[in-house]
Amino acid sequence: MSFPTTRPRRLRASAPLRALVRETELNPGDFVLPLFVRPGKGVKKPIGSMPGHFQYSVDEAVKAAGEAVRLGVPAVILFGIPDKKDAKASGAHAPDGIVQKAAKAIKDRHPNLVLIADLCFCEYTDHGHCGIVKGGKVLNDPTLALAAKTAVSQARAGFDVVAPSGMMDGQVGVMRRALDAAGFADTPILAYAAKYASAFYGPFREAAESPPSFGDRSGYQMDPANFREALREVALDVEEGADMLMVKPALPYLDVLKAVKERFGLPTSAYQVSGEFAMIKAAAKNGWIDERKVALEALTSIKRAGADFILTYYALEASRWLGN
Ligand code: PBG
Repeated sequence: MSFPTTRPRRLRASAPLRALVRETELNPGDFVLPLFVRPGKGVKKPIGSMPGHFQYSVDEAVKAAGEAVRLGVPAVILFGIPDKKDAKASGAHAPDGIVQKAAKAIKDRHPNLVLIADLCFCEYTDHGHCGIVKGGKVLNDPTLALAAKTAVSQARAGFDVVAPSGMMDGQVGVMRRALDAAGFADTPILAYAAKYASAFYGPFREAAESPPSFGDRSGYQMDPANFREALREVALDVEEGADMLMVKPALPYLDVLKAVKERFGLPTSAYQVSGEFAMIKAAAKNGWIDERKVALEALTSIKRAGADFILTYYALEASRWLGN
């Protein structure tokens, strides 16, 4: 049927009518809030390129987590800035490591908040790479043992979900086996399954103090030009036991997100990364865009493309906007 019988504008005539036929609805339950934790007490150090975000000491992180709970945001993901970095990323799996401490404190106060651990080593190594380095190379297999150990350490500290983001081959499988062997068979793995070597991570590296001291991450993270490779990467993680999947970044990779959701059918998330957030903030500050509208449009698009949940620095702000 075609015009004039069919007139799509009929259903756009009023706000309530549009609400009635709307296909995608955002709500605070869709969001995961990233938090950066550092040593100290009463510390709330602003992150310049990410307005409204801070490096928190554990006590302050507990408060930020409380705000998430109040707004109906079901989960937070923690990143740690340890007081000491070394070649072996010892701080990543130390029983009293910074995210381990934060997890215990947050669990204590907010037992119903889902605690996700980002599992990567770039924040803990003195060279800033996501694995063990020898002769200027990031080594895959020696990093796996470290990943297994860190997953168990994180589960032991009270994390509900571990999220490997290092893009080492085989990491999901070794973590699954290690978790099972240590009595954490029920701890799910959220795999950063398709993670690109993206320039959109710029502000994060300031936030987490984790830029690589030499080279870049394109030897382990994926080439932004590749789509089919993402499907192969995801298939491997699914085979190795991933419970949930993630595509990262989000908005520039909606084609990948949609395909991953359709093909694998597992709970699928997307990470609206630091650069995506910072660009909206910066343009809004200049008065060039309407921040609220642009941010909600971006998040809606990510959900429309297939995200069951979204890791976003807008988690709290968007939840407040949605509440009004
Ligand atoms: C750790 C990690 C990174 C991000 C999440 N986990 C940085 C990177 O891979 O360099 C980026 C998140 C963001 O930009 O918001 N490897």
